[in-house]
Amino acid sequence: MCGIVGYVGHRQAEGVVIEGLRRLEYRGYDSAGIALAHDGRVASDKRAGKLANLEKAMIDHPLPQATTGIGHTRWATHGAPNDVNAHPHLGSTGRLAVVHNGIIENFAALRDDLEDAGHEMLSETDTEVAAHLLELEVCAGADLTTAMQSVCRRLRGAFTLVALDAEDPGRVVAARRSSPLVVGIGEGENFLGSDVAAFIEHTREALELEQDQVVTITADAVSVSGFDGTPGEGRRYHVDWDLAAAEKDGHDWFMRKEIHEQPRAVAESLLGRRNAEGLLQLDEMRLSDDDLRDIDKIIIIAAGTSFYAGMVAKYAIEHWTRISVEVELASEFRYRDPILTHSTLVVAISQSGETADTLQAIRHARVQRSRVLAICNTNGSTIPRESDGVIYTHAGPEIGVASTKGFLTQLVACYLLALYLAQVKGTRYGDEIAQVMDQLDRMPAHIQTVLDADESIYALAREHADARSVLFLGRHAGYPVALEGALKLKEIAYLHAEGFAAGELKHGPIALVEPGLPVFCIVPPRGRDQLHEKMVSGIQEVRARGARTLCIAEEGDESIRPYADVLVPVPAVPVLLQPLVSVVPLQLFACELATQLGHDVDQPRNLAKSVTVE
Ligand code: AGP
Repeated sequence: MCGIVGYVGHRQAEGVVIEGLRRLEYRGYDSAGIALAHDGRVASDKRAGKLANLEKAMIDHPLPQATTGIGHTRWATHGAPNDVNAHPHLGSTGRLAVVHNGIIENFAALRDDLEDAGHEMLSETDTEVAAHLLELEVCAGADLTTAMQSVCRRLRGAFTLVALDAEDPGRVVAARRSSPLVVGIGEGENFLGSDVAAFIEHTREALELEQDQVVTITADAVSVSGFDGTPGEGRRYHVDWDLAAAEKDGHDWFMRKEIHEQPRAVAESLLGRRNAEGLLQLDEMRLSDDDLRDIDKIIIIAAGTSFYAGMVAKYAIEHWTRISVEVELASEFRYRDPILTHSTLVVAISQSGETADTLQAIRHARVQRSRVLAICNTNGSTIPRESDGVIYTHAGPEIGVASTKGFLTQLVACYLLALYLAQVKGTRYGDEIAQVMDQLDRMPAHIQTVLDADESIYALAREHADARSVLFLGRHAGYPVALEGALKLKEIAYLHAEGFAAGELKHGPIALVEPGLPVFCIVPPRGRDQLHEKMVSGIQEVRARGARTLCIAEEGDESIRPYADVLVPVPAVPVLLQPLVSVVPLQLFACELATQLGHDVDQPRNLAKSVTVE
């Protein structure tokens, strides 16, 4: 996620803004920039790379003194991480600057209209479109607040916009829809930030904005309105956190914060995926529809959690497209001399985009002339750069070594790929695809429902703090969830944990079951041919041998209750999408158990966030 800072007050804005951006570096970014209002003109600089690059540039080319300024650290979504795409973005007159966090879904159509009217866009970003729209309004005589209200009424998507007009230097105006923004209220100065870390060293008095609100800050006042101009309030509060807690949004671990960010991460990964006609569009897919129509086999390669995402993808892609899918560990792929042709699509799933096993595997696939598509969370990383196309997830930086929001957004990207292939190959009607997309659009709310019950999962974890081993059982798309739940426990609780396909129990693993052994059972939705009944019999088998059955089942599934020592309800969703909700209790359980054991949840022993060696 991008970092945003705004300032109006009595201090030199450059120092306040740069220091604020430094406090937001933990959010992860690939470029940084600043804009100041000075003498009727915007003075700005922006550079790819770390903040130090920008600071060096500002030593070489100092900016003028100013007491009004905005700044930005960019986590690239639309457009590569370079100087041109870095924020702030200016209009064409040089009087207005804007920075942005989020995704403006309808930016392409707005951009076309602007270019048809003679506006020249310098970058690939959706943000620059907002800069030109705002500039048109202020040049027509509107003040910046009115201009922001007007422009926001035309935008679709999730966004935080912060702008300054150098011809009105005493104010900064911002707007938010489904994206973070908070106001810092000082004495003779006021601040804006993506979170309180941006200004907590100056003030602990904050104002939280509501949805679809515009806020105007001057040195002495803060005013709030709706996009329609009606006056608003926001919610005033005092910040008790220290800086370290502020970076984690008040959570003890980045992992816990990232688990709770999943509704927004999933929602943002779904933004802009349907065009005005309702057809799926995948913005960075550099493979043509004809290329995709040629595909007769798909091999998914990945490591760890990303491999489990690929296993879920297999069920979805084969069901919706009838294309044969293999899922292969990246570290095994090239050593098995895989059968690859030009009609094979190799899909590389990687949160970091730098995993050496996966990178070497796609290099092997390309030598064999197969097409390679990356699913990745890190714009501009090596794996997407060396692929023929990429679907970016928009989870924002994932700091915790144990992947959580990275996994859920990979699932979303896999579903989107499957549906796009079905659209291109005609294996699903448009209304069927639309129905699944509508179901996906409801998933952030379903995930939030699970998160709202987090305390019950934490209590369950504390009950099992002395467990020596935990098993996980699943069927169909629940089998990869069982594997992922086990991996989470291994990674951060350092506990022996193993996931199984429930149907495999009788072929050996059931010998592991002994009285008191905790066994998580991921129960498929009811009414799905025999899947549910088969899972129930598996639960009965382990319970008959004394296991403590911790069942994750859809809300209202009373058929499980007689066999469940603990029943964790999740919203009823289609079987292929159930991993999006059934994995969340397992993430919460592992995070809390590791915390109880006193482990470093974010930086577990022996592990790295990105494994860049084979
Ligand atoms: C997941 O919690 C682990 N951190 C690890 O298994 C990870 O998924 C694996 O190393 C792959 O990383 P990537 O997605 O960045 O390629």
